[in-house]
Parts: sequence; C-alpha cells; structure tokens
Amino acid sequence: MLGLQGIALVTGAARGIGRATALAFARAGVSGVHLTDVRSMLLEDTAKDAVNTATNPNFRVFTSVVDVTEEDQVLQMVNDTIKTFGRIDYAANIAGVVDISSVTTDVTMSEYDRVNNINARGVFVCMREELRAMLKQGPVAHIPGRPAIRGTITNLGSGAGQLAVPGMNSYVVSKHAVVGMTKAAALNHAMDAVRVNAICPGFVDTEMLKNVGDIVYSDKIREAIPMKRVAYPEEIADHVLFSASQLSSYMTGHSWTVDGGYGIA
Ligand SMILES: NC(=O)c1ccc[n+]([C@@H]2O[C@H](COP(=O)([O-])OP(=O)(O)OC[C@H]3O[C@@H](n4cnc5c(N)ncnc54)[C@H](O)[C@@H]3O)[C@@H](O)[C@H]2O)c1
Repeated sequence: MLGLQGIALVTGAARGIGRATALAFARAGVSGVHLTDVRSMLLEDTAKDAVNTATNPNFRVFTSVVDVTEEDQVLQMVNDTIKTFGRIDYAANIAGVVDISSVTTDVTMSEYDRVNNINARGVFVCMREELRAMLKQGPVAHIPGRPAIRGTITNLGSGAGQLAVPGMNSYVVSKHAVVGMTKAAALNHAMDAVRVNAICPGFVDTEMLKNVGDIVYSDKIREAIPMKRVAYPEEIADHVLFSASQLSSYMTGHSWTVDGGYGIA
C-alpha cells in the first residue's frame, strides 16, 4: 500500500473518480481530507465511507459544497482547508462535466461556456488558489532520500485532452486546456518545490460515461480498447495518488494517459 502523510483536498468528490480518489487518499494513510462537490448528499456518503476506509487513526474529514465556477467559493474552499488542517499537501482537481455530443457546427456558445467554465476555468481557479496556499507553507520530506515538497496538484484531464473524439467539441477544448494549464503552472513553479501534473483517462465506468450514451457497455468501444474493457474509477484514483506522492518526485507538467492502450492503437 502507498503510505501517504499529510492533507488532501479533492474536488468532484461526490461520485465517480473523485469519490474513488477520496477513498484512496483515506486508505493510503493521510491524516485529513477536505472533500468538495456541488452534490451535497452524495458528498456526505463519500465522507462517511472515507472515515470507514481510513487507515490513519487520527484521520479527519471535512466537507463543503463548492461550485468550482464560483471564484469566491474556490477561495473559501482553500481557506477552509488551511483553517481546518493547517496545510494542503495534495490537491486533486477532479470536478468536471461532459457536453452533449454534437458536430462542431451544432455547438451552442452556452453549452461551450458551461463545459469550459467547469472543466477549464474551474480547474484553473482551483489550481491557482492551491498553488498560492502551497507557496506559503514549508516543504515536507515525505520519503527519505527524495526532495522535500510544499505540495502537489493533480488535474483531471482526459484522453480527449490529447486526441479529438467525435462530438464532445466543448469537452475536447476544455480538456486540451487542462493539459496546457498543467504545463504552464508546472513550468512557472518548477523551482518552488511544488509539482503539477494531469491524469488523462480513457473510458471510465462512472455516471458521466453512462450519461453520454451506452458507452460503458458498448461492444464497439470495448473492441476499440486494446485491453477490451473500460477502467474502474479506482484504477484512475491510484494514478492520482502516484502523481500526488513523492514516488513521482521527478515528474511535473506532464499529462499521463491511462486508457487501456486506446491512444496507441
Ligand atoms: N468517466 C470517464 O470516462 C472520464 C474519462 C476521462 C476523464 N474524465 C474526467 O474525470 C473527472 C471525473 O469524472 P467522472 O467520470 O468521475 O464523472 P462524474 O460525473 O461521476 O463525477 C463528476 C463530479 O464532478 C462534480 N461537479 C460537476 N460540476 C461541478 C461544479 N461546477 N463544481 C463542483 N463539482 C462539480 C459532479 O457533481 C460529480 O460529483 C472529470 O473531470 C472528467 O472529465 C472522466
């Protein structure tokens, strides 16, 4: 098991990959998690399950309803993490939505703005505030022999941030933006003892995928994936934890594809 010390902040923690990541942090031994989402009831379920999953006897969970498109709520989210736990060692920006599939000429600007406000602007504001907080805190040596670090940020990108997929125009734009902002932040702060990376999943068995059609159970999609299956959310969460931990101490600015080989075929 990956032993992690410190405090994690997770957006989009009510369900899917965010929920799996929250539980993975708890299982890995962190002493506290701040879990946020717009879905308050599901968020409380995640919080209860995190407490039951936690391996650190001093584990504490704090939840708050945060819409990542609202800058003042994001500022409050980061302030609340610092007020409650004293620092943020690992931030995972996972909240996201997918758009209604359409060809480019059918994209409405309201749908474009909705998706990009959550997936691109929302991730950027979270990342900026997390960086501001991390730069004020001292570095910690989590693993002997590895450099001490102030904090790490993992953004949820997508295979659609590296390749275009049919339809999903606004989503493709927003996820390419996540890949770009991850590089920019990592480059600007490479010497500040912080690391910023993105995880880019292919198809993952969550409500999001179910909402865009019967992709999870579609033979056509499974056939196109070399491993012949979609991912479990827990498999993506494990990559978020690796990116967060000092096991990946020499990696920054990269967008790591986790897609069962979809992008290589
Ligand atoms: N499921 C996939 O196949 C897949 C593939 C690649 C990337 N991703 C990315 O992974 C992330 C998680 O997706 P998922 O599959 O777990 O989806 P999901 O729909 O199960 O979970 C997304 C979560 O984000 C929350 N959310 C949505 N808008 C929000 C907002 N404005 N503020 C705060 N929270 C908000 C939702 O309430 C939900 O709990 C997303 O960024 C998504 O783009 C998913």
